Amino acid sequence: MRLDYFLASSTGLSRKDAKREIGAGRVTVDGEPCRRANQHLRADQTVQWRDQPVTLPGERYLMLNKPAGVVSATQDRDHQTVIGLLPPEVRPGLHPVGRLDLDTTGLLLLTNDGQWSHRITSPRAGCAKTYRVTLAEPLTEEAQLQLEAGVLLRDEDRPTAPATVKVLTDSVIDLVITEGRYHQVKRMLAAVGNHVHALHRVRIGAIELDPGLAPGQWRSLTEAEVDSVG
Ligand code: URA
Repeated sequence: MRLDYFLASSTGLSRKDAKREIGAGRVTVDGEPCRRANQHLRADQTVQWRDQPVTLPGERYLMLNKPAGVVSATQDRDHQTVIGLLPPEVRPGLHPVGRLDLDTTGLLLLTNDGQWSHRITSPRAGCAKTYRVTLAEPLTEEAQLQLEAGVLLRDEDRPTAPATVKVLTDSVIDLVITEGRYHQVKRMLAAVGNHVHALHRVRIGAIELDPGLAPGQWRSLTEAEVDSVG
């Protein structure tokens, strides 16, 4: 999107006034003044006008590298929330797409588009999620086959859907599941006699955690990432 169009859409300025503000050097892109009204913006670039961040109204889609100790919720009495990790001007209306446990790290999507998040979290959608799991014990071949076929979780009467297991080292596997039951990965490993030491989500559908994001960092999704869902 062109910078003058972005500024006009996000502030209500006319296109002419937006061009004038840009020409006067009052607009920065990623912290650098930009005087070219026809500059094309990438989805991950941030724009400020007169020292204030400006964002487009309408739908927003973000990925966050969730650190441990932060709750996947909009509000919490006892812990910092994932929403609290974002700058205030980005927060309004955003919700996390599904949840990660307090101690789970990695890819969390956030949006204000309820239909989009439903397409990821709805059980019927069968959206694949990949978790990097650090185990207490090496995974036996039998346990791997059980996970791949589906296991019965404690207090449930329906086995989990078939999963994919990739053994990376003696103590680390990638587990791909298409459901989102409560504490599912930890309970699946418990069901085959193992225990999860650490859990990190690396992928949701075609959206991969950006390796450039340190824990607590976020970026907007690209158009291709948003469109890859559903
Ligand atoms: N499964 C779990 O057990 N915990 C998570 O945070 C995500 C999936």
